[in-house]
Amino acid sequence: MWGGRFGGVTDGEFFNFQRSLDYDFKLAEYDISHSLIHIGALLDAGLLSGKEYSSLKKALRRLLKRVIGEGPGFIVSAGTGVEDIHSYIHGQVEKEAGAAALKLHTLRSRNDQVAFDEKWYCLKECAETALLLDSLIVSLDTLSGRHRGSLFVGYTHTRRAQVITFDLYLGAFRSMFSRDRQRLEDYFDRLRVCIGAGALAGTSLGKDSYANALRAAVTDNAGKIIPADNSVDHVSDRDYIIELLSILSIIQMHLSRLAEDFILYSGSEYALLCLPDEFCTGSSLMPHKKNPDLLELVRGDTGRVYGSLVWLLTLMKGLPLSYNRDMQLDKEPLFAAVETLKSELSLLVRFLPLVKINKQAVENALSDKTFYATELAEWLVREKKIPFKTAHETVGALIRAAECSAEGIDGLNEEELRRIHPALSRAVVGRVMNPVHASGAGRTAAGKTKTGKKPAGFKLPAIKL
Ligand code: ARG
Repeated sequence: MWGGRFGGVTDGEFFNFQRSLDYDFKLAEYDISHSLIHIGALLDAGLLSGKEYSSLKKALRRLLKRVIGEGPGFIVSAGTGVEDIHSYIHGQVEKEAGAAALKLHTLRSRNDQVAFDEKWYCLKECAETALLLDSLIVSLDTLSGRHRGSLFVGYTHTRRAQVITFDLYLGAFRSMFSRDRQRLEDYFDRLRVCIGAGALAGTSLGKDSYANALRAAVTDNAGKIIPADNSVDHVSDRDYIIELLSILSIIQMHLSRLAEDFILYSGSEYALLCLPDEFCTGSSLMPHKKNPDLLELVRGDTGRVYGSLVWLLTLMKGLPLSYNRDMQLDKEPLFAAVETLKSELSLLVRFLPLVKINKQAVENALSDKTFYATELAEWLVREKKIPFKTAHETVGALIRAAECSAEGIDGLNEEELRRIHPALSRAVVGRVMNPVHASGAGRTAAGKTKTGKKPAGFKLPAIKL
């Protein structure tokens, strides 16, 4: 694509070092779409004859159909002599369209193409991730529905805190993923794919030719693809990758927290949850082991996803305007984060509904009366009009006294209780300090979080085939 200026032959080792086809083949669909729009602009500007346009279009469409039908994986076997996806596609069109292909790259640059391709990739993957998040939320609802009314152990500082319902517990994750879903939707709504920035200074094809070409080539564009408004920015901007990776990092953080909880709660120290065999593995030496590998790998993948974000931020820091070849290295972290997140989500969607509560263990845990200390303090405030600070101190004293009795709170007699506070009696302790009372009606914030808009909000442009 650029041989004319060079007398010497490119060093073989350097050529391999700088080629990107092994990973940027994933952009094939978007790169061909760019070419289809671009040849429309060339036709509009009178730089292609009708015949040349038709033969280029035929070759491009044939390749696009193959890429969509088979997936772009076949491109990797193109051989080591091809530098990147842009030159690969050019070469394929040349094979089929002959002389007309000499005009395919007229007045455009790979700097513009690659930004176009990556933006479209981000849009598409953003929409797919949002759909997977929707399914994950449905899975959480299924799990919650299967345990309707079940009580659960609530922790702060990993210490027993208060009784909650399993629905409230799972609802916390539902809220996190609903926020993530909203973030993806906002991102999708804002992102525009641009065209016509040239190498950095725009092209003499002008905005109108591109606008006409867009109308002809794209169905349902919905304003998603537009002629670039600042060409220098367009070829040097990678904010949209950093932003998507930031959202993916937040999702990953939420998945990692879910994984961590489920790992802890299913271990024999807590034993509150039972994990499905289908998603666990055993030990080659210890016959009793059932290891939560799916969750551990989800937790471990956080390194890869956060790493991708930090990679991009570091890559872009201090880069002079406009395009620099450093930016070629933005693809592997982007693809890695997207693919990792999508596989995690797809697996967790099937895993979650199969998780079960260990009812007996939950019941045993909830028989610990200290769980209801806050409940008793609130009861003293509500029913006996005692100031909260006094109520707090009173219950604190009760817990302290119980620590010295072998049977805990149940071991304290009427007199001991009354000495702590006249409002306390065995009857009160029995009535208030139990799970049914504590998880009962009247507690706030136990509701379900609403999901974002329906997936129909994610409308991608489609090339007319
Ligand atoms: N492979 C390059 C990238 O991904 C495409 C742009 C190349 N431009 C250039 N002037 N060498 O960034």
